Amino acid sequence: MTTVAVTNHNIEIPEAFRFLFEPKRKKMVSGGRASAKSHSFGRAGIIKSLEKRRRIVCAREIQKSIKESVKELLEKIIRQSGLESRFRFLTDKIICDNGSEFLFIGLKNMQANKSLEDIDICWVEEAQTVSRESWNILIPTIRNADSEVWASFNRLSEQDPVFVMFCKNPSDDTIYKHVTYRDNPYFNETLEAERQLCKLQQPEEYDHIWEGLPISQSGFKAMIPLELIQTAQARIVQWNDMSHWPKILSVDTARFGDDANNFWLRQGYKAEFLKLLHKIDNMALAGNITNLIDEHNTDQAFVDITGGNGSGAVDRAVQLGYGDRITGVNFASAPTTNQKLYLNKRAEMYGLAKQWIKDGGSLPDGEIGAQLRYELSSVQYSYDKQNRLYLESKEEVKKRIGKSPDYADAFVLSFAYPVEKQEYGYTGANQVKSDWDSYAD
Ligand SMILES: Nc1ncnc2c1ncn2[C@@H]1O[C@H](COP(=O)(O)OP(=O)(O)O)[C@@H](O)[C@H]1O
Ligand SMILES: [Mg+2]
Repeated sequence: MTTVAVTNHNIEIPEAFRFLFEPKRKKMVSGGRASAKSHSFGRAGIIKSLEKRRRIVCAREIQKSIKESVKELLEKIIRQSGLESRFRFLTDKIICDNGSEFLFIGLKNMQANKSLEDIDICWVEEAQTVSRESWNILIPTIRNADSEVWASFNRLSEQDPVFVMFCKNPSDDTIYKHVTYRDNPYFNETLEAERQLCKLQQPEEYDHIWEGLPISQSGFKAMIPLELIQTAQARIVQWNDMSHWPKILSVDTARFGDDANNFWLRQGYKAEFLKLLHKIDNMALAGNITNLIDEHNTDQAFVDITGGNGSGAVDRAVQLGYGDRITGVNFASAPTTNQKLYLNKRAEMYGLAKQWIKDGGSLPDGEIGAQLRYELSSVQYSYDKQNRLYLESKEEVKKRIGKSPDYADAFVLSFAYPVEKQEYGYTGANQVKSDWDSYAD
């Protein structure tokens, strides 16, 4: 759960929404229920209106009456923040004593709307329902110097215009972020009870409602389809039953932006998340890895060295004498199994992970499971000219889904290379398995 970033005028906004105060032309936020989207945009708008005279339009695709607008929400926030004396609540607008104004409009009948001039901020709420035509009329209308377009939405499909036009491949003038209830420090027991109930009563809608995943996945080429992941998450596999398989630690290392080091453990058909460590130096990272190798007595550790970041940690672990139990993995390197089928190691690892799930793999459910599911089901594949399968880059996925797929990459990293079990203490040698046995031809 994120912390609260206390901002001006007694108005608090969750840390996850701090970027609303950075200068950017477009700010787009998708997310599930109760992720503090409406409250944060509303609060940011009020702070902006107090800074200097600004005209702020609160828009939605269809607004049959002012009751459907965010006017009531804004009034509530103003009252709760003790700022009533600074504002006047009129029937169809809110006015600040410095001349700032909030207007409320429906985009569908925008052409008839003459008030759409001299706008500094346009906040589009429930933006998943806004049509391409509406955006095409709206965007050029917002043209004051430093004016901004904000959108908050819960994705309906891969084809939502707001997503396709502004978020899928965000341009430099755009910040796109995905949030969930985990980003809302005000998430309370009532909401949590509602979430649990939804899980029980509407399991097929849960991911859309609470995780903000699109409902329809048609036309979307997920490398690992959502249903497969859900099946793996419903499976129960005991570590004890996996003891004859090699044990593998996999670490997706911090690479760019705000990424963290993500640690997973897999043995046979069971995979579990171990921990998340925010950016640390190579020495500390090597220490964490070698400690986990010892603690879990792993046969092999695969560490992402793609961005060069993890290589220092791998070198250090080798220096410490772990050379035969640690391997740096470059996601862009050549595949091991089939160079005609996969473009690179990353595509191969996802392919092997998919096969592993089909063969009976078990993945964690719960909190971590939800994040893994969101990321894993979001990675798309395609084919190059030589018909080799390749995946969207990690950076592309991050841009498109609003977060870096660290959990997904860390889990699939356990399929980097075949691993032999190092302890030969068993009675029958044929019980000693190599990790890739199950899907070797
Ligand atoms: N800054 C805040 N201060 C107090 N409560 C908040 C704040 N932000 C969100 N909340 C609480 O979290 C709940 C969900 O927030 P909301 O903005 O409605 O989420 P969303 O629009 O993402 O569904 C709100 O009903 C409110 O109780
Ligand atoms: Mg809302």
